[in-house]
Amino acid sequence: MATRIALVTGASSGIGAAIARRLAADGWQLLAAGRDAARTQALAADAAAIRPWVGALSTSADADRLVADCVRSFGGLDLLVNNAGIYEVADTERTTDESWQRTIAINLSMPFYLSRAALPELRRRKGSIVNIASDWGLKGGANAVAYCACKGGLVLMTRAMAIDHADEGIRVNAVCPGDVETPMLYRSGATRGVDEKTALRQANAESRSGRVTTPEEVAAVVAFLASDDARQINGAAIPIDGGGLA
Ligand SMILES: NC(=O)c1ccc[n+]([C@@H]2O[C@H](COP(=O)([O-])OP(=O)(O)OC[C@H]3O[C@@H](n4cnc5c(N)ncnc54)[C@H](O)[C@@H]3O)[C@@H](O)[C@H]2O)c1
Repeated sequence: MATRIALVTGASSGIGAAIARRLAADGWQLLAAGRDAARTQALAADAAAIRPWVGALSTSADADRLVADCVRSFGGLDLLVNNAGIYEVADTERTTDESWQRTIAINLSMPFYLSRAALPELRRRKGSIVNIASDWGLKGGANAVAYCACKGGLVLMTRAMAIDHADEGIRVNAVCPGDVETPMLYRSGATRGVDEKTALRQANAESRSGRVTTPEEVAAVVAFLASDDARQINGAAIPIDGGGLA
């Protein structure tokens, strides 16, 4: 099989790093885009299949440049994983204009810009997109107005793009994790004044399965959706939450 090429955003930590490692282990070549230079370079140093791309993403020009760098570096693109995201804990009245705009920019606009930039290559190679949404894109959550708006939007953007491009052989899917043990989980605990151990214990207790999801468990579903085994799965938004949405 020809080598397949992936682009993963937010690869310097948490779920993105696990996805990068899993795709590399499955034989993909990939560009790992991360904001943190040291961590992104360390990730790439661990696997020959991973090349680092360091930079923050905020505009459509950034998205165009990242996709162009990937295509130039590897000669193509078969899979875009829109993973980079932020969660700023706040209800409606405490959500500032800046927080609202920041959240929309990275959680919703950036997946749109990157997908739009990637479509010509994905069309040429019959590739796919996997968006990292959230269970909070399928149901509401407390103190997460901007985050829920973005993740819900991302789920419907996934479905709309899947419809538009199905006849071109492009698949667009989303995963919707519940709590995952990553720095994001710990940061949201810190805003409630709880340490990492307590944040994890509380999240484990709130999960129907008795524990939160690991980044590797999310990466496994992403790898499946990107594989030929998932060739009939398009426009799906798959919960990975230990049964929470059941
Ligand atoms: N941890 C959870 O409980 C959970 C649950 C559901 C969905 N998610 C989603 O999973 C994705 C990954 O989050 P995570 O849990 O690994 O957290 P994380 O904070 O470890 O990772 C988020 C990544 O996004 C990157 N990022 C944020 N803003 C960026 C910007 N402007 N430009 C470039 N990169 C930027 C960060 O540098 C980081 O690498 C996010 O989209 C998040 O919403 C997380």
